[in-house]
Amino acid sequence: MSGEARNLLFDEDELFDLQLPPRMRLKSSIHFTPVTVARLAARMLAPRPGMRVLDVGSGPGKFCIVAAREVPSATFVGVEIRPHLVRIARRLASRAGLENAAFIEGNAMDTDWRAFDAFYLYNPFAEQLRDDEHVLDRSMTFAPAKFAEYVRGARERLSAAPAGTRVVTYHSFGAPAPLGYELVEDLPIETDRLELWVKSGQRSNHERGAMS
Ligand SMILES: C[S@@+](CC[C@H](N)C(=O)[O-])C[C@H]1O[C@@H](n2cnc3c(N)ncnc32)[C@H](O)[C@@H]1O
Repeated sequence: MSGEARNLLFDEDELFDLQLPPRMRLKSSIHFTPVTVARLAARMLAPRPGMRVLDVGSGPGKFCIVAAREVPSATFVGVEIRPHLVRIARRLASRAGLENAAFIEGNAMDTDWRAFDAFYLYNPFAEQLRDDEHVLDRSMTFAPAKFAEYVRGARERLSAAPAGTRVVTYHSFGAPAPLGYELVEDLPIETDRLELWVKSGQRSNHERGAMS
């Protein structure tokens, strides 16, 4: 496959979806970030070279792969609780020839969020609230208590992050912005919003380094 043909596979939602297992394709549009939104979010999250972005609940890697192509100077890491999705994400990142996208298998609550400058959350925990045909697959159990626990955990981690930390949410993450964050951009996208929040106060070491 030529480099150009390979690139096309990651430029269009339909072509990206064709690389997923058939049953997953049908649900891609409601569970995975559209290419245009991923590109916008990537630029909001990583305005300076060297930034590290965590995609909380990365699914089969669509956001990280599109974002890593859009902003090659940043590193996009996805953490995903469903092992079969991590395997797909790694395969697609390798097919895309990316060195700035990586995937961790596991619960986002067990990941060290302090290793990142920015966070992307596409309503990652909402499936715990559903027990219907809209779930991606049956590998995640209906567990409303887990939803509350994970949303609280995400808020605590974001609250503890240094000033300058950037957070982009698409369809929210189940709670209002954590204390200390300012809404900097709010883009209406179809029926919902893409929001950028930045932690206010003193700048982080990374930001100070980039400014000097
Ligand atoms: C709405 S999808 C978003 C996928 C991807 N971020 C994107 O935008 O294309 C949310 C993903 O979060 C994952 N997830 C849910 N709870 C999680 C947790 N506690 N830790 C890691 N991943 C989780 C789900 O398995 C699902 O793949």
